[in-house]
Amino acid sequence: MSSPPEITKAIFPVAGLGTRFLPATKAQPKEMLPVVDKPLIQYAVEEAYAAGIREMIFVTGRHKRPIEDHFDMAFELEHELELAGKHELLRTVQSIKPEDMECVFVRQPKSLGLGHAVLCGERLVRGEPFAVLLADDLMVGEPPVLAQMVEQYREWRGSILAVQEVPAEHTRRYGIVAGSPVSERVMAVNRIVEKPSPDQAPSLLGVAGRYILSPAVFEQIRRQPRGVGNEIQLTDGIAGLLKTEPVYAYRYVGKRHDCGSKEGFLEANVELALKHPQIGPGFSAYLRQLMQQTD
Ligand code: G1P
Repeated sequence: MSSPPEITKAIFPVAGLGTRFLPATKAQPKEMLPVVDKPLIQYAVEEAYAAGIREMIFVTGRHKRPIEDHFDMAFELEHELELAGKHELLRTVQSIKPEDMECVFVRQPKSLGLGHAVLCGERLVRGEPFAVLLADDLMVGEPPVLAQMVEQYREWRGSILAVQEVPAEHTRRYGIVAGSPVSERVMAVNRIVEKPSPDQAPSLLGVAGRYILSPAVFEQIRRQPRGVGNEIQLTDGIAGLLKTEPVYAYRYVGKRHDCGSKEGFLEANVELALKHPQIGPGFSAYLRQLMQQTD
């Protein structure tokens, strides 16, 4: 059997207003909020790059210029670092956008929902299967979660959704899937519902913000009526897709930090700071001391 097409493109929907983080996000995109020393969007882009993806498609909105600047060359800064002999920092800055990585930006003119944002990337995807990464979900895994999904895609040759078990009282936060197992971690999906109430949820497997999708999903998104919250939902597009093509849910190995919430964002900062090679040991000692004080 011939191998399935490679996944070379990823869509990053980054047009949201980030109202949950106001006032921090009044004049800066929420995707630029740093976890330890890197903005959220950089974690997602690095995860896509580690999965072999080289074309990054950002679906942006107004006030998202800092994201474009972050992935652009910063000539003056690089020149200054070079002159000052700060070679390590220079390498850090240059590694944000490796030479073989291409970034393209397309605008989502109106906030009509995640499905609509993905649809805005259709032309750039050029009829190939593609990944979608929601930067709000910071995924920690080894191998990185999207790389795990690409491996599953090669095996199952269909769309792949990253899923995790969620508490019953949280089903309203997720797309929830149901289906039949085809391997230890993979399930053939036969139902997906966006943000159901606990009593309507078909299971407790919630979709995390990582998808590998067939381009046939665009036609489904275009055809569907508005869904939950009067928005054009990606989940509804996938619900249409699974009637015509196989869709799989993959229970990834790793941890998701919900950086769309303040608690999750703070937890990510603490956990990643503890693992950070430079500040980890000192930060850990500080936390221990703090806990003793508050005991
Ligand atoms: C979106 C999707 C939802 C998914 C979630 C993962 O919701 O619509 O299906 O489970 O991301 O984070 P949002 O968090 O944007 O409301």
